[in-house]
Amino acid sequence: MVNVHETPVVIIDFGSQYTQLIARRVRELGVYCEIHHTDMTEEAVRAFNPAGIILSGSPESTLEAGSPQLPSWVFEMDLPVLGICYGMQAMAKKFGGEVAAGNHREFGAATLVIEQESDLLDITHEGAKLKELNVWMSHGDRVEKLPENFVCIGSSQNAPIAAMKHESKPYYGLQFHPEVTHSEFGLELLGKFVHEICGSKSSWTPANIVEDAVKTIRETVGNDHVLLGLSGGVDSSVVAALLHKAIGDQLTCVFVDNGLLRLGEAEQVMKTFADNMGVKVICADAREAFYSALAGEAEPEAKRKIIGRVFVEVFDEEAAKIDNVKWLAQGTIYPDVIESAGVKNGKAHVIKSHHNVGGLPEHMKLKLLEPLRELFKDEVRKLGIELGLPETMVYRHPFPGPGLGVRILGEVKEEYADILRQADKIFIDELFEQNYYNRVSQAFVVFLPVKSVGVVGDARQYEYVVSLRAVETIDFMTAKCSALPLEFLMHVANRITNEVRGISRVTYDLSSKPPSTIEWE
Ligand code: XMP
Repeated sequence: MVNVHETPVVIIDFGSQYTQLIARRVRELGVYCEIHHTDMTEEAVRAFNPAGIILSGSPESTLEAGSPQLPSWVFEMDLPVLGICYGMQAMAKKFGGEVAAGNHREFGAATLVIEQESDLLDITHEGAKLKELNVWMSHGDRVEKLPENFVCIGSSQNAPIAAMKHESKPYYGLQFHPEVTHSEFGLELLGKFVHEICGSKSSWTPANIVEDAVKTIRETVGNDHVLLGLSGGVDSSVVAALLHKAIGDQLTCVFVDNGLLRLGEAEQVMKTFADNMGVKVICADAREAFYSALAGEAEPEAKRKIIGRVFVEVFDEEAAKIDNVKWLAQGTIYPDVIESAGVKNGKAHVIKSHHNVGGLPEHMKLKLLEPLRELFKDEVRKLGIELGLPETMVYRHPFPGPGLGVRILGEVKEEYADILRQADKIFIDELFEQNYYNRVSQAFVVFLPVKSVGVVGDARQYEYVVSLRAVETIDFMTAKCSALPLEFLMHVANRITNEVRGISRVTYDLSSKPPSTIEWE
């Protein structure tokens, strides 16, 4: 069996917005890597046993007091080191070079002129060695004077030393960002470093990851029983498929129908998992419990809290009926692990707030099983496909934990949820039909509990308003309204007003985030 964790790379994070991207690119190359903070100890790094080290960029300047420091062990390990941006500058300073604030900040596309042959910048394209590369820069400071025993291997207009290399040791610095897709041949360049310079093997593939995870899960849980809250979202779905493959009937899933799901969602989840895959799934029909707990509450955060609390109550009640459970599985993924405050060396345990099961009966004393803790979202999706889950489930837009509860403005009522579900289905179906679904990052309909006048035939109607929302975003922290064609939006609006009783008017939300958010509540 292949060891998926062999010859890994450690990435030291100085705080760059691109650090996770470096890790994702290295993983794309089939090499397992982990992101660690500068306080990673020598003992921890030796236990990890990396084949190479990458130093990330940073929003800070090595020229400022208090800027993040290189861990002392970095150059004592006899390992290849690649410093990117701040990482290169920190390396230059460490070996006696000089870093200065450049007169011109360089942000965006730049041309890297290859000054000297090296094993790192050795890119052949269409039979010829490249002498220039189009790269992505984002820096204020730059290396002004090379450290002793380093040579300049590349330059750009605003960074005369834009790439450097030690004369005899495998130490490299790049001022630009090879991890960003705008850097031409960036992935190849990272490949040169991890495969050729570090000698890392390409064992991190979906098939190998599944095989490894199945083995680890079996060893971890033995004959114990495992409980999983299945939401129908990508993460919990992949956990369900993975655990089912590993331990079959020792897994029981609880799916809570909170009445705030999309049209046919509960049936779809039961069909995929229970009927098609033979997973043991208990579907708890808790619609009434949620609607009655939400009655009379209009404030968004209070609604979220109620939905969270009722979820825990229902989940606990169902869980208590299952005998012999020792483990609680969760779909925690790698970004949750690295982004959680106080994470030290990736060991922190995070419980997702919307899956908060802190209320589980004390006597159950469940141990946490998190088989996706090492995976990025794109890797989770690839695993889902590998495990045979339908593409429509694996590549679905994100859906918030509180569901339609935050898409019905103000008080939630079953009547509103029923109307919204139908409108939402039309919008999503049309996005698929016209091939727009995968071009937008998230799309949905919002229910506005205000009435507006319309006419149907000769009759005057006085019904509700809905708004379509479709955004494009990379990270969901910022987003812009998707410029869907007006003809398409008008077609969707027509279908909704004609086919859904209770809606007289459809609008399109043009706002960006910030200042608006993606959801309306
Ligand atoms: P906002 O509305 O904050 O949304 O711009 C950003 C992303 O987060 C999702 N979202 C939530 N997800 N529980 C969740 O699990 C929530 O309470 C919640 N609120 C927003 C939203 O759908 C979008 O993808």
